[in-house]
Amino acid sequence: MKHELIIATNNLHKLTEIQSLIGDTFILKSLQQIGCIEDIPETALTLEGNALLKAQYIYDKYGKNCFADDTGLEIEALDGRPGVFSARYATDEHDFEANIDKVLGELTNLENRKARFRTVIALIFNGSVHYFEGIVNGEIIKERKGIKGFGYDPVFLPDGYKQTFAEMPLAEKNKISHRARAVTKLVDFLKLEG
Ligand code: IMP
Repeated sequence: MKHELIIATNNLHKLTEIQSLIGDTFILKSLQQIGCIEDIPETALTLEGNALLKAQYIYDKYGKNCFADDTGLEIEALDGRPGVFSARYATDEHDFEANIDKVLGELTNLENRKARFRTVIALIFNGSVHYFEGIVNGEIIKERKGIKGFGYDPVFLPDGYKQTFAEMPLAEKNKISHRARAVTKLVDFLKLEG
């Protein structure tokens, strides 16, 4: 039997990628496909909180099983910042270049450049909340390298690799990324439920 599952995004690339991992027991639907066109507020102070806010909004309004994700770059020497504020760290816009400049500025003269990307997925399934976390550890290098990817990719060097996320082919990043790791856990859970 096939089940509908709402993914709290309108990014069809994300939907297709996760659909191919999940298989065909669950049919993923985007927000637009269920008629949800409003901006869902992301006002929580943690990744878990924001992921749950989005999933809960959909569950309460549409009564359907759904999941939402939230990701942040957590830098050890900055007490975990930018964290939940990663998208709008430097300005109110999603300005990737300004965000990188701000992080590099804050790390000037600091020895410890350890950082990690962390993704949290909140799934509401038959009324219960489940969280899935994916982490990739690495460091923030001093200057940008590479032009692929987005966000902080040009300054993030994953542990054990010689290329930043912005230098790596996307397929390689997708094998080790925070998002891929969280999605794998979600998919494993759904396979047991499906
Ligand atoms: P979101 O929760 O997926 O929208 O991610 C929030 C912010 O984290 C993005 O706007 C980016 O600044 C940053 N971010 C998330 N994932 C990545 C990634 O894979 N590479 C670089 N930056 C990322």
